[in-house]
This record gives sequence, C-alpha cells and structure tokens, in this order.
Amino acid sequence: MDGSLHLRDLTRLYGKVRALDGLSLDIPQGSFVTLLGPSGCGKSTTLSILAGLDRPDGGTVHMGDQDITRTPPNERRMAMVFQNYALYPHMDAFDNIAFSLRLAKRPRTEVESRVRAVAEMLDIGHLLRRKPGQLSGGQQQRVALGRALVKQPLVFLLDEPFSNLDAALRARMRTEVKHLHLRLGTTSVFVTHDQEEALSLSDHIAVMRDGRLIQFGSQSEIYRRPRDTYVATFVGKPRMSLTEGALDVAGEAVAFVAEGIQLPLGTTAGLRLAAPPPPRVTLGVRAEDLVVRTEAAGEGTVPAVVRLTEPIGSDTFLELGIGAATFVARVPPDLDVALGQTVGVRIAPGRAHLFDTPSGQRLEQLADG
Ligand SMILES: Nc1ncnc2c1ncn2[C@@H]1O[C@H](COP(=O)(O)OP(=O)(O)O)[C@@H](O)[C@H]1O
Ligand SMILES: [Mg+2]
Repeated sequence: MDGSLHLRDLTRLYGKVRALDGLSLDIPQGSFVTLLGPSGCGKSTTLSILAGLDRPDGGTVHMGDQDITRTPPNERRMAMVFQNYALYPHMDAFDNIAFSLRLAKRPRTEVESRVRAVAEMLDIGHLLRRKPGQLSGGQQQRVALGRALVKQPLVFLLDEPFSNLDAALRARMRTEVKHLHLRLGTTSVFVTHDQEEALSLSDHIAVMRDGRLIQFGSQSEIYRRPRDTYVATFVGKPRMSLTEGALDVAGEAVAFVAEGIQLPLGTTAGLRLAAPPPPRVTLGVRAEDLVVRTEAAGEGTVPAVVRLTEPIGSDTFLELGIGAATFVARVPPDLDVALGQTVGVRIAPGRAHLFDTPSGQRLEQLADG
C-alpha cells in the first residue's frame, strides 16, 4: 500500500460549527504537505480524521486506493506527533519510544535496536533513561518524534509540533524535520498557523479557511500566484501591500490608477490580462518586488515619500506613501534614505498581483514575468 492520501468532500459538524465544510485534497506519496490557516480553520480536525481519532460526518479518506474512512487508528500505519508531546510521564524516554513496538509484541532485541537507531537519528541516545519531567521542551519533542519514527509508518501526521518551543529551537527542529524527510521520504502532513514555517518546510501547502481548501500548490505557486487576497496577505512577511484602484489600458500599455497614483505595470500581453479588466481592481505588491531609487524622478518610476524605516539587519523595510496609498518595500540595509525623503519606485517587471476588488479573486495573469 502506498502512503498517498485522498480526502474527498470531508465535512465535520460540532453542533452548529462546521469545522470542515467539503474539504477535498490529494496528498502524493512521499510528499511533505502543510495545512496552513488561522486558528479554528479546521486543521486539527483534518488531522484527527486522517489519524482515525475522529470520524467525518460526510466524505471519505483513501490511502492509496483503499477506503480507510472507518479504519481504526491502530490499523492505519500512521504516526502522529502533537504540540503538547503527549508522552507518558511515568516512563523514561526509552520506554516511551518503545511503547508501540512492545504493544505489537516485537522481540526484545528488535525493540532495543530500533529504539537505539531512532535515538541516534534524533541525537537523544544519551537521554534514554530520563523521564519526560527531566527533559527540556525540545528534548521531549525529540522523544515524541522518536516515538513516531520508530513505528516506521507510511504517513507522519504532525500537529503544530514545535509551537511550544522558542523561536531558535523551532527553527532548528524545522531544519531537522526537513533532513529527516529527505532521508526517509515518508508522506508527511504538517499542521501550522505559521506561514513562514509552512513556506520553509513544504513541497506543497494547503491554505485553509473556515473548513475549506482555498488553494493547494507548491511553495512558489502559493507565494507567486496567490489565488485571492486572503492567500496573498496570509502568506509572506511583511504582508503584501494592497491598494484599490482601476486599470487604465491605453493600447498595449497598462497602468494602475488610484488617488494620486499612476503606476505603469507593463503591457496587456506581458500581464496576460484578460480584456477588458473589471472596473475595480486591487493591486498587490510584495516588499521585495518594489524597486526603490534614491532619486525622486527617473525613467519609469513614480515618486514615493518615506514614512517609516524598519531595519532588521539583513534588510531594511520602508513604509512608502504613494498618492493616498501605503506600500512596504524591502531595500538593502545600506541604502541611504531619510524619513520624509521622496524616492522613486517602480514594480519589478511581471511582479504586480492584480485582484478583482469585490470578490478578491486573482485576475487571469502571470506574476512571474
Ligand atoms: N471537540 C469539539 N467540540 C466542539 N467544537 C470543536 C471541537 N473540535 C473543534 N471544534 C471547532 O471546530 C473548528 C475547527 O477546529 P480545529 O480543527 O481545532 O481548528 P485548527 O486546528 O485549525 O485551529 C473550531 O471552530 C473549533 O472551535
Ligand atoms: Mg489545531
């Protein structure tokens, strides 16, 4: 049996709350997929249904070509890692990791060697005789990962496993999980509300909202071609700048117009714009796609006033007023700009995002130039 997962029209009701509302998703064998969305959008419910800890009110789950919607959790060949570790407090790390193997009545020598191998992989070989209370949060989470790894499952399910760890440790565990996935190639479904974590870890990201799938795609598809303003602003830091206005199409040339703004975007062909564009359009620009020149006026640039500078070391973010709108631009830390200064900006070719304002839906256009 392969470890691909196929979710079809899943619904889950808790009283009047629709935790899942027709969720469909295909997770390829061996992929690392993140379910991303704000708290309450149904991520944990989805994972519990995948694990068999919860049943959907409607819809099905297949693993490979087998319907597992009603298969008990222990027959699913999946292993789950939780945010709160869920270790047995009275058992030491070794016994916690060995638990499922002993339950399956594996021979003592096999239990010993498999626990040791996993502990080695996670660098916790020297901690195996400690109980959870004698381990740090990061070490406990390693034990919890070990307990999942030792089962050699077809699928890993990870529900915000690092959110109780501090930022530095979280980043390190993220890197390690990525290495583990490269090494083992086991299908993994990872839940997080942290868009940065999702971008850094996943082959594929499923962006969810209100129990539904909004967009499923590669890290770069989600980032470069967000389907709507919800995905556009949820993914990416700093948040994508959005401004409402209209498109002015003169022959081939397209410009974005709003109060005090006349911003050239390129040609209809270059933008792959369906003609005619809708009357009200929202322009979206990521901070790294605004090109800033310290000269106020120049070929193809528009004037912008520097309202705030935010240095973060590797880069500086500028809050820029263009007409009545505000944009955030990323510039090199050594760019010499002062508050109140007028600079010249343009959008990098092909990097404008255009959305229909009332619906928030992306216009048919390519944003990767
Ligand atoms: N056992 C439950 N009883 C009642 N409501 C629940 C239960 N589990 C989840 N919910 C509700 O279902 C929705 C989705 O929850 P959840 O899947 O935990 O979201 P997420 O993991 O994305 O934060 C939320 O509105 C939550 O309050
Ligand atoms: Mg959750």
